Amino acid sequence: MTKTAEMQKASLRWKKAGLRVVLVPTMGALHQGHASLIRRARRLGDRVVVSSYVNPTQFNRRSDFRKYPMRPAADLNLAEHAGADVFFRPRSLYTSDASTWVEETARSRGRCGDRRPGHFRGVATVVTKLLGIVQPDVAVFGEKDLQQCEVIERLVRDLYLPVKIVRHPTIREKDGLAMSSRNLRLSPRQRVLAAVWAKAVRVAAQERGGAVPRRLRRLLQNVSGLRLEYAEVVGRHLCAAAWLGSVRLIDNRKCGLKR
Ligand code: PAF
Repeated sequence: MTKTAEMQKASLRWKKAGLRVVLVPTMGALHQGHASLIRRARRLGDRVVVSSYVNPTQFNRRSDFRKYPMRPAADLNLAEHAGADVFFRPRSLYTSDASTWVEETARSRGRCGDRRPGHFRGVATVVTKLLGIVQPDVAVFGEKDLQQCEVIERLVRDLYLPVKIVRHPTIREKDGLAMSSRNLRLSPRQRVLAAVWAKAVRVAAQERGGAVPRRLRRLLQNVSGLRLEYAEVVGRHLCAAAWLGSVRLIDNRKCGLKR
C-alpha cells in the first residue's frame, strides 16, 4: 500500500471493529532484526502495519541519504513472512510547502543528537506523521536506537498521543554486531572491524561507572580503520558510535553485566 489516505481508512476501519493495530516503522532494507520486531508486533495486536519510508529529513548528510540501501521486493517478502498484514510504503510524507516540524528538546540532546544536527527533529516529525496516518494502538521500536526510543517516548508523552511505545531488544549477528541496515554498506574488511567494535562495546560494558567509556577508548585506540565518535554512560547503558569509512555504527549495552 502506498496511499496515506487508504492506509488511514483501513486502520480506522479495523479500530472501529475493535481490532488492535500495531505499527512497526522502518526505513526499509529489512533484516532479521526487523523480522523480530514484526513478530513481536504480531503478538501484541490483531493487525500489523510495517511502514517503509526513507525519511529525507533525518539525514544530516546528503550522501548518507543517497547511499541508504533500498530493496523493496525483498522487504515486502520479509515483512509478509514475519507476519505483517500491510506493508505501507508511502512515496512521500512531505508536500513541497510542508511547514510543520516536531522537535523534542531534552532527550534529543547529547550523543547522536549533538553529532547529527536535525536528525531527531526529522525522526520526531516523521514518526508523528506515521502515528497520525496509521493511528496504531502500539508502535514497536528497536532498542539499538536507544536515544531514538527515549525521544519518541517523550514526544508521545508530551503530545498526549494515544499510543503505547514498546521497546524491543537489539538483535545481533552471531559475532555480536547489532543488526542494522547500514551493515550492508560495510566492505568485507570493515565487516571484520565491525565485529571487533561490537566485542569492544560488550567487553567495556562489563566495567562500572567512569571506567566504562575509558575501557572502550582503550580497546579501540589501535584499531586502524575505525574511529570512535563517542562513548558515554547514560543511565545504565554504555552508548557509543563509531565510523568505519563512511559508515556510522551505533550500539549500546547495559553496564556491569558479565557476558
Ligand atoms: O529507526 C528507523 O528506522 C527510523 O528512524 C524511523 C523510526 C523509521 C523513522 O524514520
